Amino acid sequence: MAAERVVLVTGASSGIGLETARLLSQDEDLRVFGTKLTHEIVEQVGFEVLDLDINSDESVAACVNAVLDRAGRLDVLVNNAGIGLLGMVEETSLAECKAMFETNYFGTVRMIRAVLPVMREQGEGLIINTSSVAGHIGVPYEPHYCACKLAIDGLTRALRYEVASFGIDVCVVAPGYVRTSFYDVLREAEGQLDAYDSVRERAIESFEESARHGNEAPAIAREVVKIVKAKSPRLRYWAGKDARLYGRFHKLIPGFLMDRIMRKKFAPR
Ligand SMILES: NC(=O)c1ccc[n+]([C@@H]2O[C@H](COP(=O)([O-])OP(=O)(O)OC[C@H]3O[C@@H](n4cnc5c(N)ncnc54)[C@H](OP(=O)(O)O)[C@@H]3O)[C@@H](O)[C@H]2O)c1
Repeated sequence: MAAERVVLVTGASSGIGLETARLLSQDEDLRVFGTKLTHEIVEQVGFEVLDLDINSDESVAACVNAVLDRAGRLDVLVNNAGIGLLGMVEETSLAECKAMFETNYFGTVRMIRAVLPVMREQGEGLIINTSSVAGHIGVPYEPHYCACKLAIDGLTRALRYEVASFGIDVCVVAPGYVRTSFYDVLREAEGQLDAYDSVRERAIESFEESARHGNEAPAIAREVVKIVKAKSPRLRYWAGKDARLYGRFHKLIPGFLMDRIMRKKFAPR
């Protein structure tokens, strides 16, 4: 019988992370830990719950140590925790921008740095980072979110080749629009400028359109489970129907045409 694999999912108190940890925990070959920050996990979820703030070195170390104390190993890290930030570049202060990078980018890096020594020692491991289609497209009104998610894609690509010889796989999941509480807890830049009202209006219309056709979190969770179970995980997985469509067609559409479509979409009326 194959040994039980131990999985840690960050940000498992809601949305994609909750559904992912829940679905993974139904697999009897996996022992699953999921983390929370501000929200309590009150229902019976089937996985073991740990506290984690990915903004804190101490919290990250305590969380990884708790997994090792209880399970003795750590095979899979699903780096899912993240936050959103709305605001044009000119409207968003560097402090607001840095705060988002602290969680979405440096938080992801913190987790990776904490698990790599463990996985190297084991001679195997899998790290799944969470990017976003938005990062690949470049969506106005969420420029820094796009930037940090694309940074995660670049980080994943480089890290994949750094650690392959240690038996560690690294890949990235890029969801499209997913209906979760992410949009209820979005932070907004404080320095709104009237000059951007028209672009903002178009961007909000575009969000609403995406929301209407958006994915449910379990669809993304199923994609992550597929990666966890894959023999040789690929570099990148587009998750959700809109993301898969983008993944399939963006290589076929010339850059200038994509640029023209985006300019038209967000042009003031
Ligand atoms: N929803 C989308 O359309 C979409 C699209 C593409 C990519 N994504 C990405 O998918 C991931 C999950 O998003 P979601 O839609 O499921 O959002 P969500 O429902 O808001 O869940 C976010 C999770 O991250 C946790 N979290 C936030 N800050 C944290 C921190 N400093 N330390 C530890 N945990 C923290 C939250 O914990 P608490 O609730 O306990 O505070 C929560 O469990 C994010 O990385 C997001 O960028 C989402």
